[in-house]
Amino acid sequence: MTTATLDEILQNDKFNITEILKMDHRYLKSCIKILKDDEEDKKLKLKEARSFLDALHKHSEAEKKAVYAPIIKVEPLKKITIEGEIEHGITDAKVKMLTTALTGLRTLSDELEVELKVLAELVEHHIKEEEEDMFPKMRKNLDNTILNEMGFQFMKLRGFTVRDLEKYPTLQKEISGLRKFGTRLSGNFIAKVQKHVTKSAHHPR
Ligand SMILES: [Fe+2]
Ligand SMILES: [Fe+2]
Repeated sequence: MTTATLDEILQNDKFNITEILKMDHRYLKSCIKILKDDEEDKKLKLKEARSFLDALHKHSEAEKKAVYAPIIKVEPLKKITIEGEIEHGITDAKVKMLTTALTGLRTLSDELEVELKVLAELVEHHIKEEEEDMFPKMRKNLDNTILNEMGFQFMKLRGFTVRDLEKYPTLQKEISGLRKFGTRLSGNFIAKVQKHVTKSAHHPR
């Protein structure tokens, strides 16, 4: 796969953005479950919270650039994207605040434990809307090849390590081939997405 060309990636449905985001969400959901659990040990929660905040930050930054920025210009996706962006604004601020607050801590205070629970619930709601509302709309209104390219752009920005993808051997093989493409969004990508809007999106019922 180290010889993968962009054309090959566009034909490779393993890169479909909706599947890659769902995979990344699966990890976030496993953290959310622990952070919402009032019975869970505080030390374990603190450890879990640190990797949750780190993964959430990386997920959010890559998702805003590779997904939200291009799809906000696709008319049937506009409102749901604005809603998601507002939620990202709220959660990103919480992530920043909590990342600082947890630095150097050995255990969680009751206040921080509750802050983390509230953040976990916000993110749970946000992920649910993306998966149940936004992703089906993306699949309906955008061509498969551009969804694959969006996955590829997301992967470049997200910077998964081989370890991050331990449970996803199919993608593990793909990331070694991505390095040569760098870690930035391709310059023309946002404009390119507009050219891959399906006909049904132009003529909504
Ligand atoms: Fe999101
Ligand atoms: Fe997401």
